[in-house]
Amino acid sequence: MGEKYKAIKVTDKVYWVGAIDWEVRDFHGYMTQRGTTYNAYLILADKITLVDTVKKDFMNEMLERIASLVNPKDVRYIISNHSEPDHSGCLPETIDVLKPEKVFASAIGTQTLAQEFHSGHEITPVKDGESLSLGNLSVTFLETKMLHWPDSMITYMPDDKLLFSQDAFGMHLATSERFADEIDQSVVEYEGEKYFANILMPLSSLVLRTIGKISDMGVEIDIIAPDHGPIWRKDVNKIIDLYTKWATQKPTNKAVVVYDTMWKSTEKMAKVIAEGLIDGGVRTKIMSLKTNHRSDIVTEILGAGAILVGSPTINSNMFPSIADLLYYLKGLRPQNKIGGVFGSYGWSGEAVAHIKEMLNAMKIELIGDGLRFKYMPDDNELSQCFNYGRFVAEELKKKLA
Ligand code: FEO
Repeated sequence: MGEKYKAIKVTDKVYWVGAIDWEVRDFHGYMTQRGTTYNAYLILADKITLVDTVKKDFMNEMLERIASLVNPKDVRYIISNHSEPDHSGCLPETIDVLKPEKVFASAIGTQTLAQEFHSGHEITPVKDGESLSLGNLSVTFLETKMLHWPDSMITYMPDDKLLFSQDAFGMHLATSERFADEIDQSVVEYEGEKYFANILMPLSSLVLRTIGKISDMGVEIDIIAPDHGPIWRKDVNKIIDLYTKWATQKPTNKAVVVYDTMWKSTEKMAKVIAEGLIDGGVRTKIMSLKTNHRSDIVTEILGAGAILVGSPTINSNMFPSIADLLYYLKGLRPQNKIGGVFGSYGWSGEAVAHIKEMLNAMKIELIGDGLRFKYMPDDNELSQCFNYGRFVAEELKKKLA
């Protein structure tokens, strides 16, 4: 074992011993353009405790960081807050190397870990609200079922007023800095929102309930240590307030015009519809599927009040890129949006109707019948596009009033 990967101090008693993944670009369909980190933490209590592990490929990096601080054989407990493989992928091997006295997970977590790894390791279940003595320190567990897996829990350490929050309050962001206050805030806010949009949007009501549950615990939180991205130590309320805002999904005076195009007819429509929206006083973003990834588009949609979707018709269907986006978006269950539809076609023109069905299925309130033009839109048709944008802008203003 070398001495290149060091533990990073979070408090006198807690160190970061995770791994930085600069290269990962795909998290089950979510493009992680800035990489990520897998955060594991070491609590220097009488019973030295490892909180979470890392993705399997990064186990040696984690073990080296642990070894930079303590003799790895002195680690007595491991707490597994979440059994998804980015945090538990090397748990069986880590148990074999460290030989801890005990490993803890939520009751469902013990089952999930057994079903994931079939390793036969004994995992001790802990209950919601249960405290565990680490000798001179203690921690308390809080189940966060379905946030975002059934097994999920978070761990609070009263001595440092520190919350090990697992995936919650995290983001996919690889940086050399370990703390949010050391990083460009526009990057932190964007990547935090992207993470929320792509992972937690469908669980928004649960997020609000969990924030309430944490608040009901009546505990102070000075530090939030998530399992991805930077640690919050200076302004924990900032990320809690952002989560509250994102989870509330209050509509805003913003529209996203998303489209794909075959021979630039639908693109022409998209651009002129956007001009109508802008003329109507709506902050508008045009996003082509040719140049934007689905995960960036849904991030913009999270903070929007209106979404307008355009597609040509190909073989009696919408474009495959639009189908991909809408299918992904449907799973994320966006709330409180109004919608519009448009598209150019050559002979049959079913795309607009199919998109309407998808938006209806998402309970997105459709404004008007949408626009459907043959081949290249002429001047008159482009005027209709402009007016459609204006109409959606007016409807959005009414909704926001
Ligand atoms: Fe980062 Fe749900 O695992």
